[in-house]
Amino acid sequence: MSDAATLPSGNAIGRTDVTGDTILDIRSLKKYFAIRNAWGRRTGWLKALDDVSFTVQKGEILGIVGESGCGKSTLGKTLMGIHQPTDGEIIFEGNDVAGLSPDAARDLRRHLQYSYQDPGASLDPRWKIRRSLHEPMVIHGALGYEERERRVRDILRAVGLPEGHLDLYPHEISGGQQRRVGLARILTLQPSLIILDEPTSGLDVSVQATILNLFLDLQKQFNLTYLFISHDLSVVRMICDRVAVMYLGKIVEFGDTETVFSAPRHPYSRSLLSAIPQIGGERITDTFSLEGEPPNPGNLPSGCRFRTRCRLAQPRCAESEPELRNDWPGQEAACFFAE
Ligand SMILES: Nc1ncnc2c1ncn2[C@@H]1O[C@H](COP(=O)(O)OP(=O)(O)O)[C@@H](O)[C@H]1O
Ligand SMILES: [Mg+2]
Repeated sequence: MSDAATLPSGNAIGRTDVTGDTILDIRSLKKYFAIRNAWGRRTGWLKALDDVSFTVQKGEILGIVGESGCGKSTLGKTLMGIHQPTDGEIIFEGNDVAGLSPDAARDLRRHLQYSYQDPGASLDPRWKIRRSLHEPMVIHGALGYEERERRVRDILRAVGLPEGHLDLYPHEISGGQQRRVGLARILTLQPSLIILDEPTSGLDVSVQATILNLFLDLQKQFNLTYLFISHDLSVVRMICDRVAVMYLGKIVEFGDTETVFSAPRHPYSRSLLSAIPQIGGERITDTFSLEGEPPNPGNLPSGCRFRTRCRLAQPRCAESEPELRNDWPGQEAACFFAE
């Protein structure tokens, strides 16, 4: 596959394969990390996820955006069982997987996979690609060698790599090919939902396009649903059907990608999203102007956690916390004064 592929465009508009079935239903999910002093005594809680609820529909690409530290990775890792939730429910394909031990949840979660920024980096350098690709299926048991090998070859082809690569070591292939192997490894467990955590960061634009096209191809071939975590707003706008905007552990805006990007309601989304250029325009990412610094996540302001940086803030915002309200078609925002 050539690295000069063009960027996918218009994916969010006119997609027809979103079925309307819920694959993942997250209810009041909380993940608090203990803050300890030098003597190991707990002095407070860092509320990395603070009452997060949303559903993911089968076949969609749902984007999660927000500044660094707002809880995007914590969300992915808590869904995946890498972190135990403090509270809340995670209903994946009809089963509540929250609160299960990683072992007990392993089977329920095998169709839910989490991919780090660079999935190729997790390949064992001492193993040939074949062994790395067989290993997840060996751990999960059930399949014999021949069956595993057949699946490995099919998936390797799907990610655009020749079979000859099975006999190579990771250092004998390029970084981009390692990434493909990393994805192939995840696919061997036949996931239905993949959490992609910053999957394009650190890639230059032409390689980004190739990898995004690969995600879209694989989505079609394997009927995948993606939770697409990224701080790259242009990429999110390009490929996500819906988007959640997070601020310090809370979803402050949620809705159809085009609606949210073209008319953000929450004052935080407004400053976050206003800085990105239109598709086809010049790419600027990571630069948006917001008044002041985010508050210390271990010591949030009362009421609305955005009020200390908000142009619309009123006394009411210090008294109670706004919930998401769905006063706009295809869009919800957690603000008393958003119009
Ligand atoms: N294992 C951990 N222990 C304590 N605090 C953590 C841990 N992981 C993340 N955090 C904190 O939780 C908040 C959210 O982090 P993270 O989910 O990594 O944000 P993002 O992925 O959006 O950049 C940050 O304040 C971070 O410092
Ligand atoms: Mg992160």
